[in-house]
Amino acid sequence: MTRDDLFNTNASIVRDIIKAVAEVAPKALIGIISNPVNSTVPIAAEVLKKAGVFDPRRLFGVTTLDIVRANTFVAEAKGLNPTDVNVPVIGGHAGITIIPLISQATPSVSFPDDQLKALTGRIQEAGTEVVKAKAGAGSATLSMAYAGARFAFSLIRRKW
Ligand SMILES: NC(=O)c1ccc[n+]([C@@H]2O[C@H](COP(=O)([O-])OP(=O)(O)OC[C@H]3O[C@@H](n4cnc5c(N)ncnc54)[C@H](O)[C@@H]3O)[C@@H](O)[C@H]2O)c1
Repeated sequence: MTRDDLFNTNASIVRDIIKAVAEVAPKALIGIISNPVNSTVPIAAEVLKKAGVFDPRRLFGVTTLDIVRANTFVAEAKGLNPTDVNVPVIGGHAGITIIPLISQATPSVSFPDDQLKALTGRIQEAGTEVVKAKAGAGSATLSMAYAGARFAFSLIRRKW
């Protein structure tokens, strides 16, 4: 399924889970990884608003996988260790809404325009690449678990 296909199934699941969160844990830090993240996060925000407990600092779309992928692809291209590379990725979690800021990477890296374009496109479509490679057997699993854990640990480490 594409992220768009997932909307019909996941929209109501996220809505119902967030309704319960609003009632029993209104101050929880909520990380939403269910796709399409670009839509499930706004759905969660609306449910929380309706319940009168929306705090934009406590609701997160988990898109760390895009950063993990950007770090990996840039590291591969430059012969670096991915754990030493940090590419900021902003925006959403689907296609062109994923915006890797390769010019802001640490360590600083540069690429010719055509390679930069190809690298950006690969980061934006990496989820689809996995779905195609698995040919109907699902989407990213271990990489998504790693990215989700990384994000959750960051939240826990932060002072609230
Ligand atoms: N944000 C990301 O980076 C990213 C990356 C990969 C996948 N995903 C998304 O993560 C989600 C899960 O993917 P997966 O591969 O683990 O799928 P999966 O099918 O292996 O797991 C889905 C789980 O949800 C449970 N579930 C089903 N209906 C439920 C309900 N009503 N309430 C609570 N739980 C319910 C199922 O029992 C199952 O354990 C998908 O939406 C997928 O698109 C996000």
